[in-house]
Amino acid sequence: MKYINFISIIFLLLVLFSNSIFVKSKQCKIAVLLSGDFSDLGYNYQFNEARVKTESILKLTEFSLYYKNLDESEEQSEAAFKDAIEQGANLIVVASSGQTAMGLKYAKLYKDSDIYWIIKTSARPTDDLPKVAVLDFNTDRAHFTLGYFAGKMSKTGVVGFVSPGEYIASNGNAFYLGAKEARPNISFVTTFTGSWFNPEVAYKAAQMLISNGADFLGMSQDDMSVQKAVIDSGSLGLGVTGYPTRLVYGSANIGLSYITDWTEVFVKYASHVINNTWPASDYYKTSLNPGGSLLFDEYSYLVPQEIRDLVDAEINILKNESFTPFRCNPMYADIGFILDGNGCISYSDFEKNQQVLKGDKLSKTINFGTYTIPIEFVDYSSSMKLGITVTSSICIFLCIISIIIVLVFRTARIIKSASPAFLFLILMGCIIIFIGCIIFSQSPNEGTCRARVWLLSVGYTIFLGSLLVKNWRIWLLFDNPKLKKRSITNWKLYPWVAGILAVDVLILAFWQGLGNIRSESRIGIDSLTKYQYANVCSSNDQGSIALYILLVFHGIKLLVACFISFKIKVVDIDEFNESKPIASSVYIITFCLFIVIPLMVSPQSVASQVTTICVCAIVTTLISISLLFGSKFYKMITQGVGLNQTFASSSKSSSFSQSLEKKKTGEEDDSESSEENGKKAIIVTQQSVLAHFSSDTEDDVENEAQQIDEEKEEKENNDENNDITPLEENFEENNVSVVQSKRLSNQLNGEVEIDSNNV
Ligand SMILES: *[C@@H]1O[C@H](CO)[C@@H](O)[C@H](O)[C@H]1NC(C)=O
Ligand SMILES: *[C@@H]1O[C@H](CO)[C@@H](O)[C@H](O)[C@H]1NC(C)=O
Repeated sequence: MKYINFISIIFLLLVLFSNSIFVKSKQCKIAVLLSGDFSDLGYNYQFNEARVKTESILKLTEFSLYYKNLDESEEQSEAAFKDAIEQGANLIVVASSGQTAMGLKYAKLYKDSDIYWIIKTSARPTDDLPKVAVLDFNTDRAHFTLGYFAGKMSKTGVVGFVSPGEYIASNGNAFYLGAKEARPNISFVTTFTGSWFNPEVAYKAAQMLISNGADFLGMSQDDMSVQKAVIDSGSLGLGVTGYPTRLVYGSANIGLSYITDWTEVFVKYASHVINNTWPASDYYKTSLNPGGSLLFDEYSYLVPQEIRDLVDAEINILKNESFTPFRCNPMYADIGFILDGNGCISYSDFEKNQQVLKGDKLSKTINFGTYTIPIEFVDYSSSMKLGITVTSSICIFLCIISIIIVLVFRTARIIKSASPAFLFLILMGCIIIFIGCIIFSQSPNEGTCRARVWLLSVGYTIFLGSLLVKNWRIWLLFDNPKLKKRSITNWKLYPWVAGILAVDVLILAFWQGLGNIRSESRIGIDSLTKYQYANVCSSNDQGSIALYILLVFHGIKLLVACFISFKIKVVDIDEFNESKPIASSVYIITFCLFIVIPLMVSPQSVASQVTTICVCAIVTTLISISLLFGSKFYKMITQGVGLNQTFASSSKSSSFSQSLEKKKTGEEDDSESSEENGKKAIIVTQQSVLAHFSSDTEDDVENEAQQIDEEKEEKENNDENNDITPLEENFEENNVSVVQSKRLSNQLNGEVEIDSNNV
């Protein structure tokens, strides 16, 4: 008895002890592994919602976990599994087929731990993994129903389907068969996007199907782009992501949505974990029956009652699990499948099938294959083209007017003293630059790629070369300490312009010859989308080198021009005051070149690069010719044309003399400079300049002899025929100054003096 008592007490204690374990019910900590983001209002959203709802329905004290975007990388999924297990999750839901393999691997790894799994796969559960429940998620019935709905609703008699892969999804054929069930003469169009999530492609693919007549589209896509295209086209979209999309797009836009609701599944299996009643190797298949996770949202208010009734009836029939119209159709035989006694293909054949059903006598199908967005050519903006072309054309017109004025008034004093030939060259250069700008703004092809560089470069060379050489002459004539006579006629200057032009042409020829200049189609430049391309000019490395050499060449030309402009800025005679506008022009162009060069080498949007270059070219050229010609034309208007006059008042030449005086006084030994006899000093300087002239010329002896004669002649001329009013007291001295100035003037006019140098 004592013994028995003792045993019974121990037994009682054991029972009490074990009871206390059982009473303290097991915790369930859920972890959900999602392929994408739960903000997708679709598949992932629905799974996450189920997790949240289950947590509150079962009042789980262990907060559940979620892991998102696991489709992005293998490492991310692996880390999610490890973390979930580490954090003590004991009900792990693998929601996406992307993680199925890894889920099974971990389930095997932890099969002896107290961890339960819900894994999405269509494979049957295996006995060696009793803690895994298979979630067989199938939407073929839902798609069949939506197809049926579309067939009933379609006004065009054409419906379509957008598949995610490289071939039609099995759901696509289900959708078609549903539509055909509703309307035997329905037409079916289909295309594949190659991706579950590519809104741009999906939208355009849908637009393509719509343009082929479809007014209802089914889809297997992770986002609503296809349906947005349908809604945008004015028809009703379908909710095909498992979320009641009516709540987002409105009842007026969504005809019908199917909904996936996983809450019941989650609650069911979480309760099994808590109550320790887990069914070994369970298999859960979605269905339209209550608790089957698949259901339909309410209809759009635009759907007529008779269609609602028909669709409801169809849904009721589809609740019969044995009724599988989506895989039972003679059309499957047409594409090579063997039908069983009931006229059906096997479930696995249905899933494996990659072909679009061929249709029959009443109904035809069109397969558009994989859809790729046609790549679209993007030209420079038409406003830019137009702006540059119009501006340049106006400038060219102004240039032509100027040329006419220069030609007509070539004997006018002011034009003559600025040498009409050079003015003509400058204007021609400008016209070439403006034509270059127009071509620059055109969309690149091989011709324009070459022409634009040629025109701009040659234009600038003629323009700047002429300015440079003109200035150079002034410099040579005036910056001449011993005042030696020097004769520099236009004909002596042309070879220099031609020489500069020749260098330019040489570099350009090198650039074109070796550079392999071509127009290339590029994607991914500027603000182009993935599906747009633009043409750009390109060349090989040698071409780039030549282009840099060309830039350096223009740069040197500009710097030399700047230097000469700086040197002659003391020249203050009205006739030669062209040096000022020339200097301004050169400075502006130099400044612009410093903007353009960094632009050429820095990564810039092609269009803005072109715009900047063109605007720089137009603005600098326009300002330059305005400065050069505007003042001349203005003077011609205000001071009279002065045909056949070549020289100005002596006051101007004396101001030149003064500047020379300032420069020379104190430097020259023989200049007796003082406040009182300043004028004398000027003359002395002038004479010394004259003296210097002769030794500098090539044929010194002859020249000097001739010069003396000329000077005598000129003195005589001046004595007789004075358009100069001498203000100075010393007539003789003043005459010397006048003679010198007149000679300079004549030379600048391009008039050939009697000089052995010219012979
Ligand atoms: C297709 O069938 C429907 C009735 O189901 C009919 O109203 C329609 O005219 C038919 N269309 C064609 C092109 O035969
Ligand atoms: C379910 O569908 C099968 C196959 O179409 C059919 O034989 C069976 O009678 C249906 N059951 C019910 C209850 O309608």
